[in-house]
Amino acid sequence: MIVTAHIDEVRANRWQDGTESWGLVPTMGYLHEGHLSLVRRAHAENDRVAVSIYVNPIQFAPTEDLSNYPRDLERDLALLEKETVDLVFTPSDAVMYPAGFQTAVTVAEVAKPLEGASRPTHFQGVATIVAKLFNIVQPSRAYFGQKDAQQAIVLRQMVRDLNFNLALIVCPIVREPDGLALSSRNKYLSPDERKAALVLSRALKQAQTAFDSGERDAQKIRQAMIELITAEPLARLDYVSVADSETLIELDVIKRKTLFSMAVFIGQTRLIDNMMVETSPV
Ligand code: PAJ
Repeated sequence: MIVTAHIDEVRANRWQDGTESWGLVPTMGYLHEGHLSLVRRAHAENDRVAVSIYVNPIQFAPTEDLSNYPRDLERDLALLEKETVDLVFTPSDAVMYPAGFQTAVTVAEVAKPLEGASRPTHFQGVATIVAKLFNIVQPSRAYFGQKDAQQAIVLRQMVRDLNFNLALIVCPIVREPDGLALSSRNKYLSPDERKAALVLSRALKQAQTAFDSGERDAQKIRQAMIELITAEPLARLDYVSVADSETLIELDVIKRKTLFSMAVFIGQTRLIDNMMVETSPV
């Protein structure tokens, strides 16, 4: 496994044999089974797999947890070695944003609601770093998690609009046995908060049950989810959304593909979760 912080070395390896397909899994490290599920999928579908580990400063707001974002490069590399990853790119800030850097990628409409409303500069930071990673690695396929549903939608739009020559593949959410979606941020939860964090997946299960029994009134489902979450004393609701899964516009009536999503503070820790449902054609 090649581990490098240098763009030239990534390119030299990537193009050693130009006929091989490469899968790229961009991450911010502190890897868990969610990340590893993307690595395994990349392995199954490509000759070679590259993983990037980089905590991208420009996607964090000044008020957010950049400096105490969890990091453990040694453990990450050991996990990736076990997955027989070919190349790990671990750039420094100076490599990614050298003095004089002044370009940004902005995706307009789909980056505005939900996470974008709470974190206005976040998706510009994500789109910019991912565009750079795509240009550095030039993967055949790039792998992202449904866990960050809006991120995947924003990046799909970027790939389409800027003609990136790759397939963007979105993989299912990996959960703990009790339903909590895996996240690097879960480590901040105290034992009581860990229990309280189950309100997110419980709210989604409740929405799924309502949907399965024929409920199509989006506001009714939104309201029921809000009630369930606000009944948990350790939880503070940021948003609950029932939106079109492509435009992210809030729905009155559930139709086509619908994304149920939410952000909830459990103590100081902000957690997100979501599910996608699809109405069968009549
Ligand atoms: P990070 O939070 O490290 O996540 C890396 C990838 O793992 C993302 O595509 C995310 O959706 C996926 N992921 C996280 N938890 C998951 C879970 N429980 N199940 C399935 N997939 C999961 O997302 C980022 O980093 C950054 O924004 C990045 C795209 C790397 C740009 O900096």
